[in-house]
Amino acid sequence: MQQPEFLNVEASFSPEGLKVEIIEGLNNANACISPKFLYDNLGSHLFTAITHLPEYYPTRTEQHIFQAYQAEIAQALGENTCLIDLGAGNCQKAESLFGALKPADYVAIDFSVQYLQDVLPKLQSNFPAIKMMGLGMDFSSHLSLPSTLPAIKRNFFYPGSSLGNFSPAQAAHLLQQIKMNSEGGGLLLGVDLMKADNVLLQAYDDPLKLTAAFNLNILRVVNGLIGSNFEVTDFRHTITINHTLQRVELYLQALRDVTVSWEGGRRDFKTGELIHTENSHKYSIKSIQELLSAAGFGHFQTWSDPNHYFALIYAQ
Ligand code: TRP
Repeated sequence: MQQPEFLNVEASFSPEGLKVEIIEGLNNANACISPKFLYDNLGSHLFTAITHLPEYYPTRTEQHIFQAYQAEIAQALGENTCLIDLGAGNCQKAESLFGALKPADYVAIDFSVQYLQDVLPKLQSNFPAIKMMGLGMDFSSHLSLPSTLPAIKRNFFYPGSSLGNFSPAQAAHLLQQIKMNSEGGGLLLGVDLMKADNVLLQAYDDPLKLTAAFNLNILRVVNGLIGSNFEVTDFRHTITINHTLQRVELYLQALRDVTVSWEGGRRDFKTGELIHTENSHKYSIKSIQELLSAAGFGHFQTWSDPNHYFALIYAQ
């Protein structure tokens, strides 16, 4: 039985580097923690739970688009390509496309390689014809693919609203790198579109509080990485819709005055003070195509849902 290969791209995983990055963010006048720390093993499972919430429209809307336009999407991407899943998580979205796309190779990339090691062997046994690889990599800073990948057409797959978690400038940089690595293939991109505030508010601050748990879990991840003493009960999840910058902003807010310490440092948080954890930019078809064009893409096929909540774009 074919087993998936796993590779950790070491350079991006120096624990010292991660520590420095976290402490720098905490010491910032406007404290912040990178959203990549949301996705440890528990965080990845909590996010999967969020995707099952009726209020969290992106996953289900995107799934609807996949299903409704499967044949067209498959035709656009072509068969027997190397499908590269950026931020694969539980690999379910790619799996739902395997039947139509029939990729020759599947490369699952995620920051949490541990999570991939849990899910990829099972996926491989269900799809023995696809050669699978799990890659632990922080592609948000640099996208470097192993030289052992076959020299065939590559289709990058970046579903969900993940691109929206980068600033437009960072997104442009990532898109450029994807374009340069695509070997004549392209990018199948999920794009969350701007919509009414109340829809966004419920999606990012759900009444069951799964999103709150997901966001607060980042404090435990940070405790594990830098040895800090955050108490999740000292903070609450809160969001803002920034209309100027067209994005949802996610924060943890101190419920009381607290001092958080770690070896060699500390940070005081006043009641009400915020730790920024993520931005979720919302695009229009026009603004995302402009961004893709600036990154070197020139040909677009776009699919959307009847409400225009979400779009799927194949860019070449
Ligand atoms: N990338 C997802 C999004 O922007 C992640 C997400 C959903 C998220 N809910 C969250 C991130 C709450 C932080 C806090 O839709």
